[in-house]
Amino acid sequence: MSFRISSMEEYREVYRKSVEQPEAFWAEIAGSFLWKKKWDRVLDWNFKEPDIRWFSGGTLNITENCLDRHLETRADQPAIIWEPNDPEEHHRVLTYRQLHQKVCLFANVLKNNGAKKGDRICIYMPMVPELAIAVLACARIGAVHSVVFGGFSAQSIADRIQDAQCELVITADGGFRGNKEVPLKNVIDDALVQCPSVRRVIVLTRNRTPVSMIKGRDVWWEDEIKKAETLGMLDCPAEEMDAEDMLFILYTSGSTGKPKGVVHTCGGYMVYTGYTFKTVFQYEPGDVHFCTADIGWITGHSYIVYGPLSQGATTLIFEGVPTWPDAGRFWDVVDKFKVNVLYTAPTAIRSLMQSGLEYVEGHDLSSLKVLGSVGEPINQEAWHWYHEHIGKKRCPVVDTWWQTETGGILISPIAGVTPAKPSYATLPLPGVQPVLVDEKGEEIEGNGVSGNLCIRFPWPGMLRTTYGDHERCRTNYFAAYDNLYFTGDGCLRDEDGYYRITGRVDDVINVSGHRIGTAEVENAINMHSDVIESAVVGFPHDIKGQGIYAFVISEQHLNDSDLTAKDIAMTVSRIIGPIARPDKIQFVPGLPKTRSGKIMRRILRKIAEGDLVNLGDTSTLLDPSVVDEIRNGRIA
Ligand code: WTA
Repeated sequence: MSFRISSMEEYREVYRKSVEQPEAFWAEIAGSFLWKKKWDRVLDWNFKEPDIRWFSGGTLNITENCLDRHLETRADQPAIIWEPNDPEEHHRVLTYRQLHQKVCLFANVLKNNGAKKGDRICIYMPMVPELAIAVLACARIGAVHSVVFGGFSAQSIADRIQDAQCELVITADGGFRGNKEVPLKNVIDDALVQCPSVRRVIVLTRNRTPVSMIKGRDVWWEDEIKKAETLGMLDCPAEEMDAEDMLFILYTSGSTGKPKGVVHTCGGYMVYTGYTFKTVFQYEPGDVHFCTADIGWITGHSYIVYGPLSQGATTLIFEGVPTWPDAGRFWDVVDKFKVNVLYTAPTAIRSLMQSGLEYVEGHDLSSLKVLGSVGEPINQEAWHWYHEHIGKKRCPVVDTWWQTETGGILISPIAGVTPAKPSYATLPLPGVQPVLVDEKGEEIEGNGVSGNLCIRFPWPGMLRTTYGDHERCRTNYFAAYDNLYFTGDGCLRDEDGYYRITGRVDDVINVSGHRIGTAEVENAINMHSDVIESAVVGFPHDIKGQGIYAFVISEQHLNDSDLTAKDIAMTVSRIIGPIARPDKIQFVPGLPKTRSGKIMRRILRKIAEGDLVNLGDTSTLLDPSVVDEIRNGRIA
């Protein structure tokens, strides 16, 4: 299986086969990877419990697929190109040989620090090559990594570390983001006050900011590397992992309570990310692949690290932000490294679009072959700008729909094959069986329809459980509809059978492509001492896609509402992180509640959107007059 699909006829043929004989289809794809022992059974599954097992009996190590197997053919090819935040600082290139050496060495450092197969390791680092090295070193020894995005606060990290009972943390003194420095180690120190499970912290030197090193707990990355080198511990055999052994945990927000630890396993995740990387982008050997996500999100896991490396690609890691030193930074990077595939988020596109074309001009973008979009619906205007001004109408745009839980892309054009339609993720990849259902769970057949998006059959990259709480996984994804995986997204299927994702249908907001649970933000707001109660909804935002609108009951604001609002916003930053900071805070005398005490968010959503007329039926409210007051106080 070469993963190459060159025409729509071929796509339809392959797709048909993938549905009629899914096991044969996936076995052929899995056969292109390196297994220590071949699997006995391709698939066992039921969505009731759920219990999903791919490639049972097979053993492997994903890092042998990402590193060792390329040493014969492309040892001196760049595996990672790293562009630092500051354009004045020198970039770095790691060949496959060098990356292999560094991963082995650091894997030994982990072992020297007591880490072993099955241990959970939290990684909280800036976007430097050592982040990828840390991730791969965990996988090398069979430890389970839990990467936490560098923008999360101490409390969010502590929650994640406690949930997974991590024993080791890998971090850096600090990091750079645009013109800011981020005090990563300080944040970790604050988090660890609540985390007795952590025995060891390994600290990489990045920005040389002073940090406190706790005796017996904290060690420097560089010192540990030297020790391992001195001991001659250069080689590290890859741990033999069962296909269904855990590879990593990645936390993501749901509609209720704390973030869930989505669990991915070694075999299926490897097969799925490699397959989708190659298929969607139609990656060709030698191409430079630039995914602008942070490795702290699933997009970075799958399409900066594992997908590209398993396919022997050159992957570009960029430490900085698109708008610093100016809004031409992405185009500098594309020009400098002759990037062939650019994969970014609609938020970035909209923000660069707003900065004006002068930042695009003067850059040679002719190396680009494929443009990708991910994380949120891309509006038509942004799609056209991307296609016209970045791709110069030469490059196919792949609008890739997927989720943390799906491990890799499920619905997307295949570059150069699937005719695009702006704002449509278009068609399912071979092996993926989407269905639309109505509220009652009845399948909606035919074209020109919309409903809730579900998937009918397993694919190797799907989540297996939520860490430590399998029941939560079941109720969240498999209980809403019988025998279906429920995505939480609304979706339309047009006359051509093309899919267009319309957004979340649950209480999750997608801010700049990042999932934020309204309940989480409300919990953080409610921690502020002046707050009595709150309700949070999303509203359309020109750049971020959705913004966060908070309705808050507080007595204090009567004295100084601006100050109280700022304090509340600050509390949310402290508790979750700046990404969850509300854009608008409106003080209200009450919330629209039903007689049973349920907040009617539908009404709040309408008001936040600015639709003050069609509020729907308010007669079931306990106190309908509150709606008028909220409406009158709306923040435009
Ligand atoms: C949304 C990111 C429209 C969707 C990979 C999904 C999208 C959530 C698209 C998952 C797209 C992602 N078009 N919406 N191309 N891609 N989404 O877990 O609502 O961070 O459920 O994974 O982002 O976000 P997550």
